[in-house]
Amino acid sequence: MKFVFKKDYDQVSKEAAGIFSEIIKNNPEAVLGLATGSTPIGLYKELIEANQAGVLDFSKIKTFNLDEYLGLGANHEGSYCYFMEQNLFNHINIDKDNYKVPSGLAEDYELYCKQYETMVDEAGGMDILLLGVGENGHIGFNEPDKALSSKTHVVDLTEDTIQANSRFFDSVEEVPRRAVTMGMGTILKAKKIVVLITGEKKAEVMDRLLNDESLDPQFPISFLRGHRDVTVIADEAACEKIKR
Ligand code: F6R
Repeated sequence: MKFVFKKDYDQVSKEAAGIFSEIIKNNPEAVLGLATGSTPIGLYKELIEANQAGVLDFSKIKTFNLDEYLGLGANHEGSYCYFMEQNLFNHINIDKDNYKVPSGLAEDYELYCKQYETMVDEAGGMDILLLGVGENGHIGFNEPDKALSSKTHVVDLTEDTIQANSRFFDSVEEVPRRAVTMGMGTILKAKKIVVLITGEKKAEVMDRLLNDESLDPQFPISFLRGHRDVTVIADEAACEKIKR
């Protein structure tokens, strides 16, 4: 796991944009894995700017998002599909058929999860996957648990996550209790992984990631240690509790 330390959120976003730009320029048909949440917004702004300046072309790029809330359709303002369209897809020249966000409204999730997994594989797998991390160490919606699921699956969100994500809804009651997410195995199959860790709320996660080398399903991000090309980009605020 490689760590890159940057001064602030803006610098983290620019560093990540540099990595994504290189992948896209080297392979205009690259397959990207994408995340939602507050953390990637700066990176998405950089990618939009580069696309609009004619520096990056997304016309043949394919993307797969990590997760979606159960029960929310693509047009619901709280859905991750809506988030992605507002914060990235509507502003770049990506083909609508080329971006996939898991459905929040599938009828048969056992079948749907297998199909999502197959779609990623049939696209050739993810060349690069962007991750944020939850304050509880979750990646995607792989929540701390006794064991982690490998494939795309449905999860019950933890109370911590529901509280943390309530900022995107009018009230905490509106936050869905369940989600569909790529599994840890799906994540680890990506050829390259970039994790962005910013802000003081992530300081404990950052400290543990650096100082505790165990693989612990109660701290899902620790499983990234099993991957050979992971770059963590963090800002100073996220590093304020590092003990050594
Ligand atoms: C979002 C996702 C989550 C977030 C994490 C951090 O698609 O998979 O794991 O990356 O909850 O969210 P923010 O960036 O809002 O702190």
